[in-house]
Amino acid sequence: MASVNVAIVYYSQTGTVYSLARAVAEGAEKAGAQVRVLKVAETAPVEAVEGKPAWAQHLRETADVAEVGLDDLEWADAVLFGTPTRFGNPASQLRAFIDTTGPLWFPGKLAGKVYSAFTASNTAHGGQESTILALSNTFYHWGGIIVPPGYTDPVQFKSGNPYGTSHVVGEGAPSETTLQAAAHQGRHVTETATALKAGRTN
Ligand SMILES: Cc1cc2nc3c(=O)[nH]c(=O)nc-3n(C[C@H](O)[C@H](O)[C@H](O)COP(=O)(O)O)c2cc1C
Repeated sequence: MASVNVAIVYYSQTGTVYSLARAVAEGAEKAGAQVRVLKVAETAPVEAVEGKPAWAQHLRETADVAEVGLDDLEWADAVLFGTPTRFGNPASQLRAFIDTTGPLWFPGKLAGKVYSAFTASNTAHGGQESTILALSNTFYHWGGIIVPPGYTDPVQFKSGNPYGTSHVVGEGAPSETTLQAAAHQGRHVTETATALKAGRTN
């Protein structure tokens, strides 16, 4: 049977969500998926980016990461979205991309795919779940199949977020537990998409 295609579409200003995206990709690849890690376009003015050295540096460091296009969403059997929390919501850069998906949504090309999300925030109660749930509103409109990690692996009882992998930036770089949770989410989504694809071809 053909392997499933998994797109990991993310926005990251200072690299945290990018490191989660890489770990999600590793889990998906190990579960047999064809994986694309794709950034959304930066929409902030150059002066804003250059005003924050860590932001400018991360943009330079990820210059070779491909920018997502609608063809990537069409290609994917499963899509995992990663975004920092912005006042309890997804980043506007990710929303700007999502707002271009009408041409795929209208003919039903986003329906029936598997969707999942992960995030980072500065503080522990800074809006991780609300950010992931806000993205889920869009998945409902697309007719998607939402696959959260839940407590489907022992690591989830340590990392503690059944909605989607989440990191608290104020506690430092993502820990091994968080990266394992991200890899698990990539694996879990891939396994679900694989089972769906097999069921649809039988
Ligand atoms: C405009 C803005 C709004 C933010 N809002 C929140 C927030 O509501 N709660 C929170 O804990 N952190 C908030 N943060 C912090 C970011 O979520 C945090 O820096 C981000 O997760 C880091 O991810 P990155 O390294 O991938 O960019 C905000 C940051 C910015 C710039």
